[in-house]
Amino acid sequence: METFNIMFLLLCSVFAFARGFSRNLPILSFDEGYSHLFGDNNLIVLKDGKSVHLSLDERTGSGFVSQDLYLHGFFSASIKLPADYTAGVVVAFYMSNGDTYNKTHDEIDFEFLGNIRGKEWRIQTNIYGNGSTNVGREERYGLWFDPSDDFHQYSILWTTTSIIFYVDDVAIREIKRTESMGGDFPSKPMTLYATIWDASQWATNGGKYKVNYKYAPYVAEFSDFVLHGCTVDPVDFDSVSCEASQSSDSIPKGITTSQRVKMESFRKKYMQYSYCYDKIRYQKRPAECVFNAKEAERLKRFDPVTFGGGRGHHHRHGKRHVSI
Ligand SMILES: *[C@@H]1O[C@H](CO)[C@@H](O)[C@H](O)[C@H]1NC(C)=O
Ligand SMILES: *[C@@H]1O[C@H](CO)[C@@H](O)[C@H](O)[C@H]1NC(C)=O
Repeated sequence: METFNIMFLLLCSVFAFARGFSRNLPILSFDEGYSHLFGDNNLIVLKDGKSVHLSLDERTGSGFVSQDLYLHGFFSASIKLPADYTAGVVVAFYMSNGDTYNKTHDEIDFEFLGNIRGKEWRIQTNIYGNGSTNVGREERYGLWFDPSDDFHQYSILWTTTSIIFYVDDVAIREIKRTESMGGDFPSKPMTLYATIWDASQWATNGGKYKVNYKYAPYVAEFSDFVLHGCTVDPVDFDSVSCEASQSSDSIPKGITTSQRVKMESFRKKYMQYSYCYDKIRYQKRPAECVFNAKEAERLKRFDPVTFGGGRGHHHRHGKRHVSI
């Protein structure tokens, strides 16, 4: 009995498990799941081995990358963003295979866009499939908390039929694979990335507010790494091996009815941009978009130039990112 208790306590201290709705998934240390990507000393792994600081200063940003390639799964990290003046700063947590497929790459993105003092960070989500960089599918949102105050969990669920973005236990966006999207739905193995970088050219009000290195270093903190998917052999892409619990209850299967209610209410309150209603970029709404009159009306009030179909003189085509 005594021995059992001690063993149990030992096990508890060795294995940490994710909080929130994905609480049964194991948390990896940095070295178990990730490697240094760039930015030399601007990436610091803390003593516990489970938390990482990525910083941006006048020399360089920094980033890390997963050791494995994944085809579908549930991927998550807790992130605390730098506070105060962060205009021009972008923190990204995303999947990509741009290194492997130059012309036909896939991508699933969480991007955090810094802001001037007193204005809050915004989150942008986007996907590309099979090199569809001519069609940006960005959405942008405010948040119901200040993401520089504390850690929050940001997660991507990627399956053969849908992609769901979560903030804590709230699904904020669901992208269903539709016939009309053709190859634009990400469907090749990708690695995960986390980066911080200087996006002065576009991140804040279309480049109006730049990174101010007086406030550097900008430090983004990462923790609670969950990489729970099917790993792909980098030499033989047909060799895919999935986590034993991939099919168990520990990862969400999709959106439940109550989550959908929460998602709709989040989107109603916090969505600030949707490509589906951007009349400047898309004369014709991309085929997968489902028109929602209320959403259209609300965005139009928020930003009449972009969503009003008026007389925008902007020339944004060919740009990788939307101006904000
Ligand atoms: C593909 O290669 C070209 C030329 O080398 C480069 O300019 C471009 O950025 C690459 N694209 C991606 C997605 O890596
Ligand atoms: C991906 O793009 C390539 C090159 O444009 C094309 O040949 C291929 O059929 C596309 N794949 C899918 C699944 O659409």
